[in-house]
Amino acid sequence: MDKILVLDFGGQYNQLIARRVRSEQVYAEIKPYNGISVEEIRKNGYKGVIFTGGPNSVYEEASPHYDATILDLGIPILGICYGDQLMAYMAGGEIASAENGSEYGKTTVFTADDILFEGIPQESICWMSHTDYVKTLPEGFTTIARTEKCPCAAMCDRSRNLYGVQFHPEVTHTVYGKQMLHNFIFSVCRCRADWKMDNFIETLVERYKKELEGKKVLLALSGGVDSSVAAVLLHKAIGKNLTCVFVDHGLLRKDEGDFVEKTFGKQFGMNLIRVNAEDRFLSKLEGVTEPEKKRKIIGEEFIRVFEDEAKKLGKIHVLVQGTIYPDVIESGKGDSAVIKSHHNVGGLPDVISFEQIVEPLRDLFKDEVRETGTKLGIPHELVWRQPFPGPGLAVRVIGEITKEKLELLREADAIFREEIANAGLENSTNQYFAVLTDLRSVGVMGDARTYGYTVALRAVTTDDFMTAEWTRLPYEVLEKASGRITNEIKGITRVVYDITSKPPATVEWE
Ligand code: XMP
Repeated sequence: MDKILVLDFGGQYNQLIARRVRSEQVYAEIKPYNGISVEEIRKNGYKGVIFTGGPNSVYEEASPHYDATILDLGIPILGICYGDQLMAYMAGGEIASAENGSEYGKTTVFTADDILFEGIPQESICWMSHTDYVKTLPEGFTTIARTEKCPCAAMCDRSRNLYGVQFHPEVTHTVYGKQMLHNFIFSVCRCRADWKMDNFIETLVERYKKELEGKKVLLALSGGVDSSVAAVLLHKAIGKNLTCVFVDHGLLRKDEGDFVEKTFGKQFGMNLIRVNAEDRFLSKLEGVTEPEKKRKIIGEEFIRVFEDEAKKLGKIHVLVQGTIYPDVIESGKGDSAVIKSHHNVGGLPDVISFEQIVEPLRDLFKDEVRETGTKLGIPHELVWRQPFPGPGLAVRVIGEITKEKLELLREADAIFREEIANAGLENSTNQYFAVLTDLRSVGVMGDARTYGYTVALRAVTTDDFMTAEWTRLPYEVLEKASGRITNEIKGITRVVYDITSKPPATVEWE
């Protein structure tokens, strides 16, 4: 099997690079820059190496560097952003801070005639995010792309198959980024496309069969795509040794608890325990308004509930979680900065009475998780269910959480979802939901003054949830949802639509 090594220098998008490579059916492995030597790289037989981006500047003392002999191994290398600058620096070039400021966002790039840009127009849009740039090319390198501000947006040394790009081909905003990576993998590295998701499933099932043999395993089932796929995967490996605990924390969408119970308990025949813990969660959340605090409380309470359940079940050895890769990086578990602490990663208490935590989907992106789910035979409507955050409606009720506010939100959200379904738009937007803002405003109904909450509707279009655009929903659908929400729900006087993309906003409001 041909393999590409992604050498991680701490960028936000490093796993995304691996995912893009895997989507070309070539296996990609990620290693931290200080976790593998040149000798190991040579021995492992990688067909190519990709240096990721990173937040540093090459001349900083603490910046991550690598043994320059890698450039002479005869293995093709693609450096991205910081990886590009590092390659230039290692090869004897000069890096400088852009005099006319950083370049950030969608930028027009002019590319030369090169194997890396085969099938790409000479002028296209790329995603830039940098201050430093390659000022003086190392010997043997030529410039193969430029932007208005950046004289060297891409470079190469054809004799050694060394390539560097200042922009990010892995993010969807680089319109031809996928093609560039394709060109690197197949035309420069000469890989064969022989990696499939089935191999991944088989490997994991076999691994857990052995690793968890004779162990009692507890899984945190939320009913979302991630934990559902983790559950079915583990169930396939260890059957009845797996017990799924579904905590109904009272922060779920309308009718969701019953749906989960029916699907996993009855349809899949898993060991399923539903714990009704609404009061426990709501009393812990009383008076709490700070989003990170909410997440921490919920995350911790989740684990406590599991521990209580585990005690009832006797000796439990292993806890399984449906953590996926974006949760890991956004919680700052890689080298990148913390954006939000996701309950299933950031909020783990220090003292935990399980021997081991298993996260089978830790390396996958959402669409890869869905593909895994489909291969595992999980019904379409579950695999394609929109994501739902672990802390549930707690991060969609802005400010203090009360039972009444949750009830208002649940109804508004159900109406919005119903109207999206009525318009046949479920597959045209990747996530859509209502948020109950903490803002109250004046309205009029009949002849009377009303004073109620403002609901915000949010719908986003994305394929990896790392970046997202707000979905251009038809006005008619928004109008219908708004009309129904304000008419059918007493206590809501106003509906607004959220038109911010990610970045700068996140998908969830908290
Ligand atoms: P954000 O708001 O971070 O959301 O842009 C990206 C995606 O992640 C979901 N999300 C979460 N999922 N635990 C989860 O399991 C969490 O704490 C959490 N916070 C956000 C969000 O719904 C979106 O799909």
